[in-house]
Amino acid sequence: MILEEGEALISLPRIPVTSKGPAKRSKIFYNPAMRNNRSICTLVCRALGIKSFLDGFAATGVRGIRVIKEAGSEVIFNDCEREAFFAIKKNLELNSIEADVLNEDFCALKNSAELCDIDPFGTPEPFLSKGLELSERFLAVTATDTAVLFGSNAKKCYERYGTKVKKVSWSKELGARVLCYTVAEKAKALGKRVKPLFVYAEDHYLRGYFEICDCEEEITQIDGMGPIWSGKLNDKEILKKALEISKKKEYAGKNFVEKLFLKALDEVDTIGYYDVDCLSSKFRSEEPKLQVLVERLQEQGFQASRTIFSPKGIKTDAPLNELERAFEG
Ligand SMILES: C[S@@+](CC[C@H](N)C(=O)[O-])C[C@H]1O[C@@H](n2cnc3c(N)ncnc32)[C@H](O)[C@@H]1O
Repeated sequence: MILEEGEALISLPRIPVTSKGPAKRSKIFYNPAMRNNRSICTLVCRALGIKSFLDGFAATGVRGIRVIKEAGSEVIFNDCEREAFFAIKKNLELNSIEADVLNEDFCALKNSAELCDIDPFGTPEPFLSKGLELSERFLAVTATDTAVLFGSNAKKCYERYGTKVKKVSWSKELGARVLCYTVAEKAKALGKRVKPLFVYAEDHYLRGYFEICDCEEEITQIDGMGPIWSGKLNDKEILKKALEISKKKEYAGKNFVEKLFLKALDEVDTIGYYDVDCLSSKFRSEEPKLQVLVERLQEQGFQASRTIFSPKGIKTDAPLNELERAFEG
């Protein structure tokens, strides 16, 4: 079976693929639900002008093939599964592309690249240090263990990410800040510093792009929990460039991707967000339209915006009593 995703053609073994789930019962993994993740990856690579990309967990090779075709980078492919190694070779041929393909455990790799992409099953934690070692400048990380990152199990979160978080009303952003904290700590252990360029959540995963640079480490302690990243979660210049590139092309998921970029560009850099449903019950007041609430807060001189992490979320530096005033209009 041959599929088209972005500008890549991908040959898959003949097994059912649903729109949501990965192709199961095969050692060659392809998840159509990660299409937007890969589209954003090609846009960010183009915005960053990435010359070399290490697709460390390549599976079918779809991500790296799209990065070659859509971002113009050179790609080294790697997957520890033998079947995946042959599938990548076949898919490169299908797309008339030549590239190096490796069949190693990621932690045994020696090939560095400007951007190293970590996209394993579940948690990326065991691979972060190696990724930071192999990366010449940028690191991209996908985490699908969102239950832990979003606070379902503080003990597991501590064992995995070195900080404890509980469920809060702004869990998705908290998870993003935990991931950034861990990447920053792993970098620090290697004598490096990192800056998040874009960290976001979609469905079942968190994805972060980081730059290794001479930047500040911004970490704060959250009461009753532990340390998290307290700095910015995105770099607006990069997002603007990625959005411009996106606008010039047609692709499946374009609407979703551009809305995400626009929201991220608008987002204020406060920590956390309020859920308007929760506020509505707290203030015993009907919720105003989110945009109206944002504008009222801005008129009162506060920072306020919607958030990429929740359709019902509002970010602001206004204290609760002012928020209540703005809520009631
Ligand atoms: C989630 S899939 C990657 C999906 C792919 N990046 C994409 O966008 O379609 C994870 C892949 O990592 C491979 N893998 C898992 N552990 C690995 C390791 N330690 N070293 C290298 N590859 C590994 C698996 O065989 C699998 O193909």
